[in-house]
Amino acid sequence: MKPLAAALILCAASALALPDPRFDDQSDKTPLVRKDAPPAAAPVEMDPRMWVEVEAPGKAERQAAVDAGISLEELAPGMAAGFAAPRALARAKAAGLKIRSVVTLRQRFGSLDFPEKDALYHNDQELKAEMLSLAARAPDLVSMFSIGKSTLGKDLWAVRLTRGAAGDQPSAKPGIVFLGAHHAREHLSTEVPLLLAKYLVDNRDQPEIARLLESRDIYFIPMVNPDGVEYDVEGGRYHMHRKNMAKNGDGSTGVDLNRNYSWGWGGGGASLDPDDDTYRGPSPFSEPESRAVKTFVEGRPNLKVLLSYHTFSELILYPWGGSDDPIPDAKALAAFKAMAGEMARMTGYTPEQSSALYIATGDTCDWAWGKKGIFSFTFELTPKSMWNGGFYPGANAIQTTFQANIRPALYLIDLADDPRRAATQTKVFAAAPASKSQGETIP
Ligand code: ARG
Ligand code: ZN
Repeated sequence: MKPLAAALILCAASALALPDPRFDDQSDKTPLVRKDAPPAAAPVEMDPRMWVEVEAPGKAERQAAVDAGISLEELAPGMAAGFAAPRALARAKAAGLKIRSVVTLRQRFGSLDFPEKDALYHNDQELKAEMLSLAARAPDLVSMFSIGKSTLGKDLWAVRLTRGAAGDQPSAKPGIVFLGAHHAREHLSTEVPLLLAKYLVDNRDQPEIARLLESRDIYFIPMVNPDGVEYDVEGGRYHMHRKNMAKNGDGSTGVDLNRNYSWGWGGGGASLDPDDDTYRGPSPFSEPESRAVKTFVEGRPNLKVLLSYHTFSELILYPWGGSDDPIPDAKALAAFKAMAGEMARMTGYTPEQSSALYIATGDTCDWAWGKKGIFSFTFELTPKSMWNGGFYPGANAIQTTFQANIRPALYLIDLADDPRRAATQTKVFAAAPASKSQGETIP
């Protein structure tokens, strides 16, 4: 996205029609120096200016703030806020203005976006905008709603594609849900479900897609952990952050949302040390994000299939993750294996039981299968290894990874009516038609 601070600076003076404080030096012993170099060019974390909120019941206080050297950018009843260099802040205080709050630019503006080279990735706001535009493009087919709030109060957005039902309206059609970004740094896991939703909308007139949209109830929740994602890109650089942004009380931050589900919670492969990346949380479903997924799933008994995207390693994983035992239902296991095998042929990814990677308890899929009987998969998307980009494979990986994942997604949507038929049925869902979505996000 655009540097917000710069945009504010550009538009503010004219919007407020106030005198330009950069030229005003009559009010104080310390002369104001005109700064021709645009200060927003410095990275926000190095910018010495502060974002200051002052009490301003009327014009007199606004004028005093401006005369002190604060560039006012935001007015609300009783208050005014803007950028203040350290000496301007001192002058404002000396002038008797009541300062409500002072934060660094990084605190105020720094957590907005991906590094420039990865600008194609979607942050929380851009994701929301894409979903809104999908819904606007095909209102007969697409609805958008929030399944709950994150730890820091962000909406957890879902987009639903089906004919004849909208929003929260229940449906008896076989349902499927695609989830992304349980883990903050796994940004491709947001892009894939978002692009899949777009793809289905763009290709809604293709006969096979039209049939699926008619006969299935399809949900996408591309960013389960928006707080973590925002932090992971804060300041335009990556932080390798995995967990959510819960304050743990011991000074550490975050619960591993993929260890916080109740099935087998507290067992192996999930840490009880809040400082660890795989911290399971204080109790099962202690986190608003995992709880929102639970409530979402429980409210929709028509859900038959779940796919939770993660990165990376190029794996297709099925339950159990918390135990090396195979799931007890032999027929279901045969179906899981057939589905994983088929999708592995489509993608080149490796199919295996989750626990073959490592035993880890409290993940989404063990809960969704164990508790709800939903055929649940974890995909570890591109790349294959840390050496090929790890969590940050770059913008070029978006399209290739999305393309590789169209057919498995269509296959699962198709199978949602009766996933068990995968065990006996050899016919694979028709090859995906060429994507019309392609040109839209990548020039
Ligand atoms: N990388 C994912 C995680 O650690 C994979 C989870 C798969 N489940 C498992 N139990 N191994 O959360
Ligand atoms: Zn993950």
